[in-house]
Amino acid sequence: MKAWIGLMSGTSMDGIDAILVSFERQQIRVHATHTIDYPDDIRQRLSNLSQNRGTPDDFGELDHTTGSLFALAASSVIEKSGFPATSIAAIGSHGQTLRHQPDGSTPFSIQVGDPTLIAERTGITTVADFRRRDLAAGGQGAPLVPAFHKAFFSAVGEDRCILNLGGIANITHLPANDGAPVTGFDTGPANALMDAWCLDQTGRAYDKDGAWADEGIVDQSLLGDMLSEAYFSRQPPKSTGTERFNLEWLKVLLNRHPDLPGADVQRTLLELTAVTVAQQIPPAKGMTVFVCGGGAKNKVLMRELQRTCSPLRIASTAELGLDPQWVEPTAFAWLASQTLSGKSGNLPEVTGASGERILGAVYYA
Ligand SMILES: Nc1ncnc2c1ncn2[C@@H]1O[C@H](COP(=O)(O)OP(=O)(O)O)[C@@H](O)[C@H]1O
Ligand SMILES: [Mg+2]
Repeated sequence: MKAWIGLMSGTSMDGIDAILVSFERQQIRVHATHTIDYPDDIRQRLSNLSQNRGTPDDFGELDHTTGSLFALAASSVIEKSGFPATSIAAIGSHGQTLRHQPDGSTPFSIQVGDPTLIAERTGITTVADFRRRDLAAGGQGAPLVPAFHKAFFSAVGEDRCILNLGGIANITHLPANDGAPVTGFDTGPANALMDAWCLDQTGRAYDKDGAWADEGIVDQSLLGDMLSEAYFSRQPPKSTGTERFNLEWLKVLLNRHPDLPGADVQRTLLELTAVTVAQQIPPAKGMTVFVCGGGAKNKVLMRELQRTCSPLRIASTAELGLDPQWVEPTAFAWLASQTLSGKSGNLPEVTGASGERILGAVYYA
């Protein structure tokens, strides 16, 4: 049995999720998981650099520091599993996105987390830099998880939607009809703005269980201003990140609503996620929406999604056999296995690339 490691850290910049899994036909077997939270200073420096505040030296140092943490996350998950390192076929490492600018004449996507350090310190072949080949082929370089969703979560005769609530929210529609194309794109912000506002106003990195948002009420006027953002009405393929949806974006809008209580802003941001997801989800009758990502733990967001997406059923990916926290890391373990078998990892109908591509760069053990 071949085992694979997936390492994921998303736009929330909360930390690194590591999983050790094996794939047997359509089945995923989870052998061990490990999470490393970013220390506050690293998170702050990453956040600064992601907002273009930093130098090439900051970039180099953070590439090294996060690479070391990714390597540590991989070693820790191996240790927990009790597997010998020799039984691990490869590590798929997403890296930490700093900037994602897929549109315009000079598209790019930048991740840090030096993969040479991961390969060197673990002695395991590491696949990284998954996004850029898709971008080079004219795609968005994102989202890349839909191919994984299609491989493991689709069911003939049943419309399913996978909704990932990371810093940014992305959806994958898996149509009931086997031959119909899978669609997938970023709908807009999920936790990124809520986290940024929560940190700015309370000093806490995120609003646990949505408790603070629950104290506030939706300000319809602010919500209307937020919804006028052109990204929400753009047709897919499309992807976005914190270079668009960040604290500055919010504060510019708040200039027009100066006296709102902090909790009302938080509640309105939560509503923005619930509404923009509902507006952009394909209206397939009888579809279930399976939620994953850290936002699945936000009880208020889940409650409001039930309302905005009604009559669609909202469920957790746990129903599909994979805990919400581990869907994305598992996807990158699987994408590494695709790369090493010479198989494509992108869905051109999702990213807009001119064709299927073998993704990633391989750093041999
Ligand atoms: N108990 C919780 N209540 C509310 N939000 C939570 C909870 N646990 C995690 N989150 C949110 O999930 C985010 C992390 O989600 P994750 O899927 O790791 O995102 P990313 O892929 O962007 O790293 C946190 O930043 C936080 O906003
Ligand atoms: Mg995360």
